[in-house]
Amino acid sequence: MRKPIIAGNWKMNKTASEAKAFAQAVATKIPSNDKVDSVVGSPALFLETLVSESKGTDLKVAAQNCYWENAGAFTGEISPAALADLGVQYVIIGHSERREYFHETDEEINKKAKAIFANGMLPILCCGESLETYEAEKTAEWIEGQITAGLADLSAEQVSSMVIAYEPIWAIGTGKSADATIADTICGVVRSTVEKLYGNDVASKVRIQYGGSVKPENIAEYMAKENVDGALVGGASLEADSFLALLDAVK
Ligand code: G3P
Repeated sequence: MRKPIIAGNWKMNKTASEAKAFAQAVATKIPSNDKVDSVVGSPALFLETLVSESKGTDLKVAAQNCYWENAGAFTGEISPAALADLGVQYVIIGHSERREYFHETDEEINKKAKAIFANGMLPILCCGESLETYEAEKTAEWIEGQITAGLADLSAEQVSSMVIAYEPIWAIGTGKSADATIADTICGVVRSTVEKLYGNDVASKVRIQYGGSVKPENIAEYMAKENVDGALVGGASLEADSFLALLDAVK
């Protein structure tokens, strides 16, 4: 049985004081880590505050991106070594917004995954298709390509421990979430791709999230599905009460 993992992705939202207030409001109210992994994905500016405010609690912290080098002349980039030094446990990579707006490639995302593992953290590797791909019924092959490229050269142990988030681009921020059966089917494509690459044992261990307009009112439908182990949530993770309601629906 895979432990559920619910992660918020704040994207480019909040201020330092709002981030601190959020952490203080939720850190001691989340369900035990024995039942569910609760993660908040914050802009880099607030990570130190979130790590500090969540110390001694079951709230874990994720960065929303990092570079694939630990240090050097890479103006504006975020060092995975520095993230690990702060106490960040997860890093979201390959989000469709970064692929679209910042032209991140599968190869770059794969290098980031390797750097995240090398620094003792865990990647949340995002994949997902456009509405055009979905309507052309080419989602499965698209997702297979992203997963195959994103996992290149990772070990079986690494893949077993990481998280993969399936986020149909057409469901992100639209309020139009994918039907839970569709989400389960494509999360099943993710899992079968992992099985083809690494075998059944690894495929049975890797945790797969659904993301795209998940909210407290609909999360239970996804969590009831065989291939869905959690959710990566944007808008509904921003407010403390809503984030706690997401977790309550899972514990
Ligand atoms: O990474 C999660 C995000 O892309 C989903 O956003 O607002 O549709 O929950 P939202």
